[in-house]
Amino acid sequence: MASGGVDWKAIREDFLILRERAHGHPLIYFDSAATSQKPQAVLDALRNYYEHNNANVHRGLHELSSRATEAYETSRQHVAKYIGAATADEIIFTRGTTEGINLVAQAWGGKFLRAGDVILLTEMEHHRTWCHGNCWLRARAYGYVSCRCATMARWPSRSSRLCSRRT
Ligand SMILES: Cc1ncc(COP(=O)(O)O)c(C=O)c1O
Repeated sequence: MASGGVDWKAIREDFLILRERAHGHPLIYFDSAATSQKPQAVLDALRNYYEHNNANVHRGLHELSSRATEAYETSRQHVAKYIGAATADEIIFTRGTTEGINLVAQAWGGKFLRAGDVILLTEMEHHRTWCHGNCWLRARAYGYVSCRCATMARWPSRSSRLCSRRT
């Protein structure tokens, strides 16, 4: 058992891909925001799904579709419980970060953003965030919403000056 009561070795062993070597060294993987590695339980669940249940979710009348829908909704409940959501209805699955941000921009932004509002980002944001926060919102939807960028180094001191009631 390692630091903080977390058994990191056991967690690492759940990810078979971490037995790979890269350039002759044990693999250490840092690109999780782009593609996350999957532990054995996830690989098993995926395999089981495709071998036994694969079908349209919410859109079929046959047995496999019912099973797929039930599995999908059950996982929504598991995620809700895991992150402490009030109900499973709060959980929306998307294909990735870009789609998630896009959804927030269109759904939340479409309802609440007003002319003169400011979106505050840091220079650390991934270009996809910039794309949605800056290009998409400004060019297509809310001609008046401006984006400001604060450098991380100055973030604590500048953020209060950059923030207004419209941020
Ligand atoms: C740091 C970071 N944020 C966001 C994204 C975009 O993620 P997605 O491909 O899930 O839309 C990536 C993709 O490479 C990323 O590396």
